[in-house]
Amino acid sequence: MSFIVAIDGPAGSGKGTITKLVGKKQNLINIDTGAMYRCVSLNMIKENIELNETNKIKEILEKINIEFKNINDEDRFFLNGEDVTKEIRNQEVNDIVSQVSHIPIVRESMVDLQRKMSVGKEIIMEGRDIATNVFPNADVKIYLDASAEERAKRRLKQNAEKGIDIPYEEILKNIIFRDNNDKTSNVAPLKQAEDAIYLDSTNLTIEEVVDKIEQIIKEKRS
Ligand code: DC
Repeated sequence: MSFIVAIDGPAGSGKGTITKLVGKKQNLINIDTGAMYRCVSLNMIKENIELNETNKIKEILEKINIEFKNINDEDRFFLNGEDVTKEIRNQEVNDIVSQVSHIPIVRESMVDLQRKMSVGKEIIMEGRDIATNVFPNADVKIYLDASAEERAKRRLKQNAEKGIDIPYEEILKNIIFRDNNDKTSNVAPLKQAEDAIYLDSTNLTIEEVVDKIEQIIKEKRS
């Protein structure tokens, strides 16, 4: 029996953290779709393929093998048999992943893979177009939002913890710019599915958001 929870929302809304926590508590397999776009980006970097080399991109997509494994309670990502968990978070990948995720053939191929990975399973998946495009028939659809100012504050705090010093105003400008790009994109634009539940986390703690989503899942399952 399959059961699908789809969580979409803008960058910095806390989707990643929330999805991991809810997945664990509700025993749902968490498929990290962002990591999949990161694997494609890393594969392109390793093979020296540029963003406009469509035929070469097609070739790597035909033979790409992306696997998720939970080892010692840790999610690990494998690209063509190699553990790339750390590498997919490096700066080189960060610099191109958004553009890679907007290439139509990449999108098609990953959406196809996301659907295949989920057949017959109980999963939770977060991204930009999960409820609108990947799983229009998902059992639970959540659109997780937060104000741009709150998301900038959260990023400022995360940066401070990592010793990164970028002014608040610059972070906010960047978030607004990215929101606009995501929402107006020709490929998989970010938008709330008509039947999704809107959840604004601006004034909520992580625990409160997790609780609310768990409640929605429990109601659906009962
Ligand atoms: O969540 P993340 O930073 O790992 O995502 C990496 C990139 O992929 C980011 O630019 C957003 C994009 N992405 C997407 O377009 N669709 C998804 N379902 C997930 C991520």
